[in-house]
This record gives sequence, structure tokens and C-alpha cells, in this order.
Amino acid sequence: MRIAMIGTGYVGLVSGACFSEFGVEVICVDKDNSKIEKIQEGIMPIFEPGLEDLVAKNVESGRLSFTTDLSSAVKSADAVFIAVGTPSRRGDGHADLSYVYAAAEEIAEAMEGHTIIVTKSTVPVGTGSEVEEIVARVRPDADYDVVSNPEFLREGSAIEDFMRPDRVVIGTKSERAQNVMRLLYRPLHLIETPILFTSRQTAEMIKYAANTFLATKITFINEIADLCEVLDADVQEVAKGIGLDGRIGSKFLHAGPGYGGSCFPKDTLALVRTAEKAGKPLRIVETVVDVNKKRKQQMAERVVQACGGTVDGKKICVLGVTFKPNTDDMRDSPSIDIIAGLQKYGGFIQAYDPEGMEEANQMMVDVNWCDSAYEAIEGADVLVIITEWNEFRGLDMKRVKSLMNTPILVDLRNIYNPVDMAETGIAYSCIGRSL
Ligand SMILES: NC(=O)c1ccc[n+]([C@@H]2O[C@H](COP(=O)([O-])OP(=O)(O)OC[C@H]3O[C@@H](n4cnc5c(N)ncnc54)[C@H](O)[C@@H]3O)[C@@H](O)[C@H]2O)c1
Repeated sequence: MRIAMIGTGYVGLVSGACFSEFGVEVICVDKDNSKIEKIQEGIMPIFEPGLEDLVAKNVESGRLSFTTDLSSAVKSADAVFIAVGTPSRRGDGHADLSYVYAAAEEIAEAMEGHTIIVTKSTVPVGTGSEVEEIVARVRPDADYDVVSNPEFLREGSAIEDFMRPDRVVIGTKSERAQNVMRLLYRPLHLIETPILFTSRQTAEMIKYAANTFLATKITFINEIADLCEVLDADVQEVAKGIGLDGRIGSKFLHAGPGYGGSCFPKDTLALVRTAEKAGKPLRIVETVVDVNKKRKQQMAERVVQACGGTVDGKKICVLGVTFKPNTDDMRDSPSIDIIAGLQKYGGFIQAYDPEGMEEANQMMVDVNWCDSAYEAIEGADVLVIITEWNEFRGLDMKRVKSLMNTPILVDLRNIYNPVDMAETGIAYSCIGRSL
């Protein structure tokens, strides 16, 4: 079995490497020449734990290769996966499908023999039918099926998520396509992963419904956290108390600065737009989008309050800028709004992140990037933890206190305990917990 993976980003590169690990012959394609050159030299264009070794191993075995030549990759493939970006369209928040459509056209031009085109990108309901129309228009003679196979991996644990997913969703009514997809995912079937066969539209909807549900869960606990602060309750204990209820579940109940990342912000907004267009507005999701956007902006004010009402002229140490730990992804990270807000209030930012600084530096101005957490803490008037990287969980608080100008810690991820912090002499504030 041979597949081509169009788009070698967070999803395409991980999926391609994992399929090759399953024994499939995989050619990963990207139009970004520098990305492909880097990978061919063994340098990963993204930070994802375990990826470099997995890619090296499968390249060595001869099952995994990389190219910018889409046409040759598609010609020899039994299935072609589309894993290109679907960002928010500027101006209206609909999913920008231009990369998907462009890839579909290129694939259609190159196809030979029966080919299965699989959309792995997150795309609005109905996109599969549009891809089908594009292919039919470009190549009326072609023999093909269009399948939806949304991806649920999480950055930071992407390989494990791909290799041991909660489920695989395959949207197609074509028996021929079902058989090829079944074969591709056979190793997961063998470990009893539920494989759901649905219509294409249903598969497309499952992906958006899953992401918006998770974003809603996060937003819910964030609002409960704000209420806890006012009513002197502890959101961590509330999350535990409700999470132990099997109907609710304990995941995605960590109060924080608001969700960010490459998926939730754009996918919640895209579903809102799809629903509006269909005349069935999703009022809950609309509110989630609105609440989350404002929350990210409000976080800077929290820091100002913790500093006694002003950060004007103060040195602010920020630890963690990526949208979550174990990734270098900065897309829609809460740190972007928080740092911009603190700068607007007159603060000077010195920051450290284990993997995200290169990317962040292209999105932010006037940030003094440091080589370590303690270097960033030195001389600061306030320390703000935005991303819960493991290395920030065990800071030596004596050292932190001695390095800071005024010892104030704003913990936006609740990685420290207010009771322990009370003994350090550092003024501590966190999210939704009584102090
Ligand atoms: N990042 C995640 O955690 C995640 C998880 C699940 C689903 N998704 C979805 O997967 C899709 C891809 O996301 P990503 O984060 O991997 O995006 P990305 O931006 O990291 O990668 C997309 C890649 O596609 C390439 N590309 C675009 N058009 C191309 C073309 N015509 N030919 C060849 N290459 C082309 C780009 O150069 C880029 O390298 C999106 O729809 C996203 O919503 C992402």
C-alpha cells in the first residue's frame, strides 16, 4: 500500500511518519521547499516529542520519503491524504479552504488509476462534496472516491495519540474506499480501537462537534473559576468533584487563561459561521467564542491587579509562551494577548520558553528573550506563568524570591499550591482558588 500525504505540517508529518511505522509506504509532500530540505537533512520543522527518531527510523527503512513534487507522489499512490492548513478566513471567520481546494486540483491533475482522496484537514460539512466536484471538473475521466478522515491528535502527544487513538472516524459510503481505509488502519483495529464508519458529512461534523465541545468544557470551568474567586471556593476541588462523575469526566477541566492553539479558536468560530449560514445558530458556541476571546484579554488586568494597580515601567517575567507545553506552536496562544496587554500598560517583558521563542519572536515586539527561566526571573517585579512546561513546576522558590525585585507570582495555570506558596514570602495569585 502506498500513500501520499499532502501537507507536511503538525498533522501531515506526524500522520505520515505513523502510517510508515504501520508498514505503509508513505511519501510526504509539501510546497514549502525549505521545510522538505530540512526534513531530508534530519531536522524537524516542528517540535514534537519522539518525532525526529520516528522519522529517522522510517526513512532508514525506506518506507518514508519527502518531496515537493506532488504530481509524482500522487501518481503512484493508492490513497492521497490532504493535510493542509484550514485557518480562519480573514474578515469573516469561516474556514479558509483555499489550500484544500488548490491541493484537490493538483491531485486531480496528477491522479492515475483508482485513487482515494482522504481529507484529514479539519473542514466544514460539505467540503468533501466540493472536493469531489473539483476533481470531477478537472478530470472528468478519473476513477476516485473522496473520504473524510478527521484527525484528533494533540500537539505534544501527537505520536501516541495517532498510534493509540480513542477512535478513528472514516466518512464514506463507498465500499471500495472503506476497504482501503480499513487496511490502512488495520494495526489500530488489531488493538481494538473503535473504527467508526459514517457518511462523509457526519465525519466532518464529528470533528467540529468534538473540538467545540472541548472548548466549551474549558470555557465552562474558566467561568466557574471566576465565580469561585468571588465566593471563596476552590476551582481545583470543584473540578475534581465534578470530574469524578463519569458523565462529566475529569479532562479539560483545568481553569486557565483561555484556550488557544491551532485548532479550538478557528474551529469554534468556523462552526459558528457554518451554523449561521445554515440558519441554525449555535448560541452556546457563539458565547464560548466571545467569553474566551475576552478572557485572554482580561489576563493582563489580573497581572496589573496583582501588582497593586499598575505595571507601568515594571519588569515582567513571562514563563511559557506556547499555547500549551511540549509544542513550539504559537498559533492563537493566550500569551500573545497577555504580553501585548501588559506592554500596553507600560510593562517591560523578559520571557523564556523551552521551545516557542523562535516562533514567538516573529509575532511579538520588544520582548527580551532569555536563555533560562532563572535568567528571565532576575530583576523582575512580577513573574507570570502562562504555559505549564514541566520545568516551571518545580522552581526553587527561595532562588526565585532572591532574584526578583519584588516577589510576586501570577500563576495562570495553577501549577503551585496556595498553601505551599504562603510559606515562601512570595505574593501569590492563581485562578479560581481561595488564598
Ligand atoms: N495541529 C493540530 O494539532 C491539528 C490536530 C487535528 C487536526 N488539525 C487540522 O489538520 C490540518 C493541518 O493542520 P496543521 O497544524 O498540520 O497545519 P500546518 O500549517 O502545520 O501544515 C500545513 C502544511 O501544508 C502545506 N501545504 C499547503 N498547501 C499545500 C499544497 N498545495 N501542497 C503541498 N503542501 C501544502 C503547508 O506548506 C504546510 O506545511 C488543519 O485543517 C487543522 O485544523 C490540526
